[in-house]
This record gives sequence, C-alpha cells and structure tokens, in this order.
Amino acid sequence: MCPNNKQFDSTFKATLAGVKDVLFPKKTDKILQDTDRIDGQTVLVTGSNTGLGFAIATKLAKRGGNIIMAVRSGIPEKGQEIQQLSGNKNVRMEFVELAKLQSIQDLVLRLKAQNVTIDILVCNAGMVSAGSKVADNGLDLMFAVNYLSTFYFVNLLLQHQIIKPKNRPRPRLIFVASESHRVNFPIDYTTFGQPVPYSAAKVVKFYGYYKLLLTIFGVELHRRYANEGNDLSIFTLCPGAVHSDISRNSPSVLKPILWLVFKAFFQTPTKASRPAVYFACSPKMEGQSNVYLHIMQEKLMADAAYVEENGKKVWAASEQLLKELGSPL
Ligand SMILES: NC(=O)c1ccc[n+]([C@@H]2O[C@H](COP(=O)([O-])OP(=O)(O)OC[C@H]3O[C@@H](n4cnc5c(N)ncnc54)[C@H](OP(=O)(O)O)[C@@H]3O)[C@@H](O)[C@H]2O)c1
Repeated sequence: MCPNNKQFDSTFKATLAGVKDVLFPKKTDKILQDTDRIDGQTVLVTGSNTGLGFAIATKLAKRGGNIIMAVRSGIPEKGQEIQQLSGNKNVRMEFVELAKLQSIQDLVLRLKAQNVTIDILVCNAGMVSAGSKVADNGLDLMFAVNYLSTFYFVNLLLQHQIIKPKNRPRPRLIFVASESHRVNFPIDYTTFGQPVPYSAAKVVKFYGYYKLLLTIFGVELHRRYANEGNDLSIFTLCPGAVHSDISRNSPSVLKPILWLVFKAFFQTPTKASRPAVYFACSPKMEGQSNVYLHIMQEKLMADAAYVEENGKKVWAASEQLLKELGSPL
C-alpha cells in the first residue's frame, strides 16, 4: 500500500502509531523565531476552551493575535486564563455549538454585526464518540462536528466577507485533521452524513472517514480560492497524539488505561500546538497553500484528498445536505 494511504482503522493501531511518532520524533526545518508575530491580526480558534485549541489560542495570544475563542463551554474563565497566561488582553469568547447549524449561523451573524474580519481561522474543535450517536438535526454526530460544521462555518464566513480573500496578508485557514484520515472508506453519497450504526470498535474508522472529508474539503477550497489570484491559504495538519480530553467518551473500562497511555506517551497540548502555530505565524507560509503537516513533517495527505472528483462531489453533497436541513448556503 502507498504510504500516503496507510491506515489507522482501529483505536489500537491509531494509539500505537501515535506513540511511535512521539517516541521517535523526526527532525524538522519548520522553525518559528520569536520575532514571527501576528500583532493585531484577528484569529478565531474553535474548541479553544481545552486541549489543543486552548494551547493554540494561548500561543497565538502570546504572539500578539487578537483572539476570538469560539467555544461551547468555559465562558468566561478559560478566556481569562488565556489573558493571564499570555499577558494579552485582546482575548474574547463567543459561544458556538458546532453540532447545531443554527448556532453556527448565529455566531457568523454576531461576528458580522461586530464588523469582524478574520485573518487566521483555526478549525480545531473535534470529537470522538463512544459509538454511533445522532445529532439533534438527525445527522451522525461525529460527521456533524468533525466535518459539516467546518464546511458550513467556512462558507458562511466567506459569504459574509468575515474572511476576505483579497485581504493582505492573505487570510490563513487552518484545519485540524488527523493521520487517521488515511482510511479505506468508500464515500457513499446516498447516505452522506446519515447515521449508520457502528460500535465502539469502528469509531476510529468513522472518525478517520470524517477527517478524510475535511481534508477533501480543504483541497477543494484551495482549488476554488487559491488558484485564481492566490487569495486564501489553506493548511491542514495532524498534531500527532495529544494528551487531551479527546478520549472522554471512550468506554469506562478503557478510560483509565487510555489516560495512562496518553499521560505516559502522548505530547502535551502545548507541544502538539506547534504545527498550527507555525501555519499561523511563519513568514515562510505567506503565499503558500494546500500544505499538510503531520506534527512538524510536511507530507502528502491520503491520495483521496487530491482527487478532483471527490472534491466536487463532497462539496455538492454537503451543499445539498444543508439545503435539506433548511440551512442552504
Ligand atoms: N488528541 C489527539 O491525540 C488528536 C490527534 C489528532 C487530531 N486531533 C484533533 O485535535 C482537535 C482538538 O482535539 P483535542 O485533542 O484537543 O480534544 P479535546 O480536549 O476533547 O478538545 C476538543 C474541543 O472541541 C470542542 N468541541 C467538541 N464538540 C463540540 C461541539 N459540538 N461544539 C463546539 N465545540 C465542540 C470541545 O469543547 P467542549 O470542551 O465544550 O466539549 C473542545 O474544546 C480535534 O479536531 C481532534 O480531532 C486530536
């Protein structure tokens, strides 16, 4: 099998691969200087109340960004914590429940009313469920949070000119995916986003599939926005294995074991935030797009991410789904 497509289709394989990457780190030329700052730039980070997102928001606040934490919990204490840790007062919070399209739309309209222009967007929020779970709108919950919310949010931000492709410096859009997107999973457009029953054992496979959709969306966005006039920078990453709250929904018997493995072998969120912070701040990334970092290594994503037909079809299926749910773009 081509290395771009090696698979992580079980929790065991994914954890083992994550431990290996952390134990045997590779050298990188992707290094940030203290002078690589984003003073005055507006940065929105989803899921920044905890884990990786909290670390990314803290580091970007330290580098001078005006931070908007788009979160569904931790208001106001997590914002205050970042203000204290970074010494930057320009940190504020906005509520969003990403499993609800209405909540995403409300956030976009509030940002518009406040005349916000986003220079750097970090779509970080994500989740792993214990098994298949249905969101309020009838979609598979992991699909709704890990993929569709980003598709909807980014498109609305562009439509309402909250992200302005003509702005300089060129807006940077950073998608937090996962190496688990290298999954062998046929995209079924007839059941796209619909809940399919799956057990805890299949969760990583479905999680990987939804991250694959995210990578396909990122490449298609690059095709649509970065080719003509080089207007948006789209970056995708896997942070590597992170000792965060990501396993919070795992079966209770597994939780203590996972916690121990995570604590012993996984990276701290601060360390794991490096690729996102690099994409956001590095002058070397100016004018670049369609770059994928796994930890700090530049790689190709799975082959499926680059197939143009996948990009077109996933985009069309997502638009159609939003229409059917009464939230057309
Ligand atoms: N941990 C890893 O080893 C690992 C590896 C590869 C990729 N990733 C990716 O890294 C990103 C961050 O995850 P993490 O490891 O930091 O996990 P985490 O500690 O569980 O943080 C996840 C964040 O997403 C938010 N979120 C989840 N569902 C949401 C919803 N419906 N609406 C709004 N916010 C929601 C959470 O908010 P609440 O706290 O309010 O629930 C939290 O802020 C995810 O995209 C994950 O897939 C993680």
